Amino acid sequence: MSTKFCDTFGIEHPVVLAPMAGVASDALVAAVSNAGGLGLTPLWHVSTDDLRTSVRNIKQLTDKPFGVNLNMDFPSLEHLDACLEEEVEVISLFWRPPGEFLARAKAGGAKVVYSAGDAADAKAAAELGADAICAQGWEAGGHVRGTVGSMALIPAVVDAVGDIPVVAAGGIADGRGLAAALSLGASAVWVGTRFLAAAEANVHPDYLSHLLAASENDTAHFDDLFDIGWPDAPHRALNNSTTKMWEESGRLPLGQRPGEGDVVASTSTGGEVLRYQSKSPSGDLTGNVEAISMWAGQGVSMVKEVQSASDIVLEIVNEADATLQRILCR
Ligand SMILES: Cc1cc2nc3c(=O)[nH]c(=O)nc-3n(C[C@H](O)[C@H](O)[C@H](O)COP(=O)(O)O)c2cc1C
Repeated sequence: MSTKFCDTFGIEHPVVLAPMAGVASDALVAAVSNAGGLGLTPLWHVSTDDLRTSVRNIKQLTDKPFGVNLNMDFPSLEHLDACLEEEVEVISLFWRPPGEFLARAKAGGAKVVYSAGDAADAKAAAELGADAICAQGWEAGGHVRGTVGSMALIPAVVDAVGDIPVVAAGGIADGRGLAAALSLGASAVWVGTRFLAAAEANVHPDYLSHLLAASENDTAHFDDLFDIGWPDAPHRALNNSTTKMWEESGRLPLGQRPGEGDVVASTSTGGEVLRYQSKSPSGDLTGNVEAISMWAGQGVSMVKEVQSASDIVLEIVNEADATLQRILCR
């Protein structure tokens, strides 16, 4: 199955590994690219030295295209320049309008995907020269830019950006989702939560077991609950002991929340993880990981088993093919 997005980015299948800070290992990014999809690695939260190391490592693992994701709420031209010096082919920008980052990435020879939460945001980035737009629906796990669900957002963004390929994100976890996204005019899908259960993902076992057990009812969208380290950034996560405690307190505001200041886990280097911190529960953490921000999208009910990243890519594509055939035969 090939689409305009595949042609533009030189890949075989219209499946993008959504950038997921803290849990997207180099091995996962490379495995998705090796399977014919497009692996994206978020490297905005690491030093530029670590960024370079990670990019070089991924290049050892794959000779296929992959990309680096940068967060415009923590803008760093040093990070972008390091990517360009390392000849990263694709730059993914999210959270705020891309401004000079987009032009600089393009001038440096990279292709740019901009993640938008509504059609106006998407159109503005398209006019600046983005090569593709990711339309992130409200169902998405992690930080969620907009307030519109994928079903309404995808066609709105497709209509707004003209010929530029649109990648659909949010609640898409299997081939039925890919078929639906293509039907709505998208050119690829951007899948996060499903890949948290990839064998190569760097997720903590307690996080994984909660993901595998969760239904579509088990996530919630919060304006500013897990906000330590990244304020004013709405997000979607699994309900857990922290969200329950906060709900039971009557949703007290910042500064009065129950257990604020609790250290609930620590990193392998001894760093403290606070109860209301914005932190992916990665494999290296120890402590009460269940209390941390267990990011997940509403498509979590479709995450049923641990599989290799390549099996996930191929299953999504084959199931989408079969779904489209079935629809045409009706
Ligand atoms: C654990 C986790 C971490 C995330 N980190 C990032 C990030 O660093 N950069 C980014 O652009 N999006 C991030 N996101 C959002 C994803 O890129 C994507 O939009 C979302 O996962 C798509 O929805 P889905 O989870 O329903 O597939 C994250 C999502 C999750 C679940």
